[in-house]
Amino acid sequence: MSAARGPGWKRSLRLPASVRLAWHASEPHPRDVPIAGFYADLEFPAAPGALPYLVVNMVMTLNGEATIGGKAVTIGTPVDALALTRLRTAADALLSGAGTLLAEDVTAVLPEAASARRAASGRTPRLLASILASGVAWGPEVLSRRFFTDPRFDKLVITGERAVPADIRRVEAAGVEVVRVASDPSGRPDAAAALRLLAARGARIVLSEGGPRVLASLLRARLVREYFLTTSPCATGDPLALRPIAQDVTGTGRPLLLERVSRYEHAFQDPETGARLAESFDRFRVVYPP
Ligand SMILES: NC(=O)c1ccc[n+]([C@@H]2O[C@H](COP(=O)([O-])OP(=O)(O)OC[C@H]3O[C@@H](n4cnc5c(N)ncnc54)[C@H](OP(=O)(O)O)[C@@H]3O)[C@@H](O)[C@H]2O)c1
Repeated sequence: MSAARGPGWKRSLRLPASVRLAWHASEPHPRDVPIAGFYADLEFPAAPGALPYLVVNMVMTLNGEATIGGKAVTIGTPVDALALTRLRTAADALLSGAGTLLAEDVTAVLPEAASARRAASGRTPRLLASILASGVAWGPEVLSRRFFTDPRFDKLVITGERAVPADIRRVEAAGVEVVRVASDPSGRPDAAAALRLLAARGARIVLSEGGPRVLASLLRARLVREYFLTTSPCATGDPLALRPIAQDVTGTGRPLLLERVSRYEHAFQDPETGARLAESFDRFRVVYPP
């Protein structure tokens, strides 16, 4: 894995007063939007059928790298972190994968004001964070991570037919429920079955924060409705870095289409070099070919 470090913007930059709405399918543009209005009060329609409405969030470099130094959290600015918080606020449950659990220190804590607003509108104030994992043979170095120890969100591990009962008991002893669903042909927990489980737990809107492999499974199964993508103005060229979608998702051989809903831009100056940069935030509706 590359030893590259990210640009350090999450530490060195502050939130700007506004971002630019460069394009929107149905709202006036271009115009500046106060940062308080950026992805505020996101609303999503009900999904057709029994499954939740699934949106995904990804950040990548301009070169399409989904990680720098093996992590995604190294890539964006505080505006990217804010985008994620706003998406979480709109969601009922989060879905991620074992790869992200092992690479990042996954948590799902909402700001107090967001929890209060959710409660006032009859929604659950806490998020349900779930991890898809084929096997759960995790030792203390994994079970001591914040996903398992932080009490400020609900959590669930979703596994398939391969998981070993003794491993499941060890995760449950760490205080996290493990639920088996049907496996897909590769032996991993089936993505649609996982979403049905989250729907049964009351989730109407699910946000995938999983990595490139989970995103590929979700797209291949045609479950993703919207794709939020942050593009950060840097590149490493790391040949080991995954792209946001790690595997073939075409099925029929025809590409998915990404119909743009909106694009925000965040102009900023790199504190180290003075370079004038722009980070972009695209929201797409996913269109599956017939
Ligand atoms: N750029 C971004 O926005 C972003 C977002 C999240 C993560 N990341 C980065 O992505 C990297 C990890 O990538 P990743 O693709 O391995 O993470 P991931 O998608 O979160 O996890 C993938 C793993 O989840 C398990 N899994 C269980 N059921 C699955 C299913 N139905 N479909 C697919 N996977 C399933 C598999 O492991 P088992 O079969 O072993 O259980 C699989 O290898 C990390 O470096 C992380 O920092 C980037």
